[in-house]
Amino acid sequence: MNNEEFAEIAGVVRRRSGIVLTSDKAYLLETRLGPILSRFKLPSLSALGQKLRQRPDEVLERAVVEALTTHESSFFRDGKPFEHLAKLLPRLISGRSPGAPLRIWSAACSTGQEPFSIAMLVADALAGRTDCRVEILATDISAEILQRARQGVFTQFEVQRGLPIRSLVKHFRQDGAKWRIAPELGAMVRFEERNLLNDLSSLGRFDTIFCRNVLIYFDAPTKTRVLEALARRLSPDGVLYLGGAETVLGLTDRLVPIPGERGAYGVSAQKAAA
Ligand SMILES: C[S@@+](CC[C@H](N)C(=O)[O-])C[C@H]1O[C@@H](n2cnc3c(N)ncnc32)[C@H](O)[C@@H]1O
Repeated sequence: MNNEEFAEIAGVVRRRSGIVLTSDKAYLLETRLGPILSRFKLPSLSALGQKLRQRPDEVLERAVVEALTTHESSFFRDGKPFEHLAKLLPRLISGRSPGAPLRIWSAACSTGQEPFSIAMLVADALAGRTDCRVEILATDISAEILQRARQGVFTQFEVQRGLPIRSLVKHFRQDGAKWRIAPELGAMVRFEERNLLNDLSSLGRFDTIFCRNVLIYFDAPTKTRVLEALARRLSPDGVLYLGGAETVLGLTDRLVPIPGERGAYGVSAQKAAA
């Protein structure tokens, strides 16, 4: 594969998902695009680059993006945001006006550990209360990964990463060698395919948004664009959680860090009023 062919593949990925692949990531193409070559009967990455250059092919482009997204995730990943949410939930629940659901969005949910971690905290905070409706929306660009997430089935290895044994016993059922999320918890989460680069206004407003470990793959202008779109989806007293290596600083002044809470951001009071 020459530089032009690499640039062609990287260009498709960037245009469609925002993910920036620099030339030091050429190995990723080698390792991840093998199945795409077989599926589309292409002899080499060069042939793939040439095919993408010749004419737009929705199915092929989508498959390339799916193959090059990274889906690493784990239950209660990085701890802190979930500790903060657990503290916040009683206030959010008691502050609901009747009929208004509490809305939480996991905006790059991957295989589902993040929205199901949120659902476990919500179930614990509700403690059987039925007078508060909670909606958890989980979205991702990858249709394949969402199909997996919807099943709510995890391996022993996956449940051993970050999930306290108490939560495993309470919220999962053993299913052969795997673990299946309890139906009442599964029913709390709605999965939907969404690209963070597209118009998100139809999703409405959320009390909290988790958008973690995806901005790291974007360039600065794309991070700004996505952060500002998320700020518009956040209620005035809402909280946005980012990943440990992500920040709003230097990217937008619509969001401000919540003092003392690593990875948690609120809507800037000035900007909310504007
Ligand atoms: C590394 S995972 C993070 C999962 C989870 N948020 C966490 O922190 O554990 C990144 C996810 O972002 C998704 N993604 C990448 N680009 C996206 C985009 N433009 N819109 C929506 N999701 C995207 C990928 O498909 C992948 O599932």
